[in-house]
Amino acid sequence: MSQTSHDRLLIIDFGSQVTQLIARRLRELNVYCEIHPYQNVTDAFLTEFAPKAIIFSGGPDSVVREGSPRPPKAAYDLGVPILGICYGQQVMMNDLGGKVEAGESHTAEFGRAYVTPTEAKIDFMNGWFLGGLGREQVWMSHGDHVSHIAPGFEVYATSPGAPFAITADLERRFYAVQFHPEVHHTPNGKTLYENFVKDAGFTGDWTMDAYREEAIRKIKDQVGDKPVICALSGGVDSSVAAALLHEAIGDQLTCVFVDHGLLRLNEAEEVVAMFRDHMNLKVIHAQEQELFLGQLEGVSDPETKRKIIGRLFIEVFQKYADQIEGAEFLAQGTLYPDVIESVSFSGGPSVTIKSHHNVGGLPEKMGLKLVEPLRELFKDEVRELGRELGLPASFIGRHPFPGPGLAIRCPGEITREKLEILRKADAVYIDQIRKHGLYDEIWQAFVAILPVRTVGVMGDGRTYDFACALRAVTSVDGMTADYYPFTHEFLGETATRIINEVKGINRCTYDITSKPPGTIEWE
Ligand code: XMP
Repeated sequence: MSQTSHDRLLIIDFGSQVTQLIARRLRELNVYCEIHPYQNVTDAFLTEFAPKAIIFSGGPDSVVREGSPRPPKAAYDLGVPILGICYGQQVMMNDLGGKVEAGESHTAEFGRAYVTPTEAKIDFMNGWFLGGLGREQVWMSHGDHVSHIAPGFEVYATSPGAPFAITADLERRFYAVQFHPEVHHTPNGKTLYENFVKDAGFTGDWTMDAYREEAIRKIKDQVGDKPVICALSGGVDSSVAAALLHEAIGDQLTCVFVDHGLLRLNEAEEVVAMFRDHMNLKVIHAQEQELFLGQLEGVSDPETKRKIIGRLFIEVFQKYADQIEGAEFLAQGTLYPDVIESVSFSGGPSVTIKSHHNVGGLPEKMGLKLVEPLRELFKDEVRELGRELGLPASFIGRHPFPGPGLAIRCPGEITREKLEILRKADAVYIDQIRKHGLYDEIWQAFVAILPVRTVGVMGDGRTYDFACALRAVTSVDGMTADYYPFTHEFLGETATRIINEVKGINRCTYDITSKPPGTIEWE
């Protein structure tokens, strides 16, 4: 549990796919909230957390099933407003004396629906949800339904499949909705959350400025005058974490930037120059290109590549960190979604598609304590904080770049020659995207150099050079993705530029695979 001094809202998670979106909507309203799986929310937890309001999330289970998830009874006795959503609504009705019935086909609703206020309650509804429209589009996803509302509740809106689409007990300030106000397909859902938090007395004190002050104070409290090490990758998360730590503890922080020889054109120099020269951070530039490329020689299996890079990264990092006398702390740019993922009761990865590498496991091995100053933030909040800390906008908005770097954009064997060609082609491609003003519309764009040479003709001569694939995808979180619909003009112009400007490539293809079934990277 975090130690924040802001007003806090507790989201009790019953396993809905969209619980994180509730937190997003609330953070947009400058309300501090945390998601906790229902099993962890004990009476003692509630007392310590002291929420100003509670939300029960949706969930896949059925309230009528014996042993299905429940909030602690004490939640109802805290005297704070509670909002129940979908499964959360059914749980609330069930706990407070109403009745829920298992799904039958005629009462199940999935997808778009419309809620209409009950005649006499239009005033309440206008204030709470409707823009005076009379009815509102919402997104439903329920099999079970409430058949009797609990004593004290009244019905405020109905939908064709949900006679109790919105119910409330205004005296106790308990609200229950059958639909999901947090999703995009409930266009005015934010208004509902806004009214809920206003009613609960939140003042909107969760601002980035306030967060920054508080984070700095907490870092100082945690590390005192001890040295801290940070693995700087050049990505947004580790960069923002480093900048924040530097502001908090100055020269107590040393960053280690591991250069594995698999970075993009001029990347290492730019990252080191920015942090060392412009921001005055202590940065160790670990030039270990030979080590990594040497051990990758002759390796073409993607998982073997990843394992080698992951292992070497940890070894190298440890070697440099050992030189920092008295270091007790390791800083990491862990974000809130990673934290939720690791405590989620339903979540957790199943099969390994790709083994990602990071410095996990390292703190225990080296006897270091963790400092994670971003663990309460979502990605877009990290970007905002980065801007507050004065990192350049171009840096903050950079596309994600994988830990194993260009190794996984070079299917088959990695050679220095191929890496050289790949760096140049990638630079031309990104330049094209920026020139056409498309960079910010795209989640990630890069070139992969293919393990095949093809025949071409340039001037009057025959060429026999590498083919490359251009990749550009749109995505929200990297979990699913679609290819970016460039115009033919853009693709033609870019292919021409790459083939003309990059010696060693004579053919360009555009990858139009979505994820799934593809992945974003080629390996
Ligand atoms: P895939 O290829 O799995 O990639 O669709 C999804 C996102 O994750 C990035 N990625 C990685 N990031 N270490 C990282 O830090 C890794 O090993 C790694 N592999 C993939 C990828 O660039 C995309 O943004």
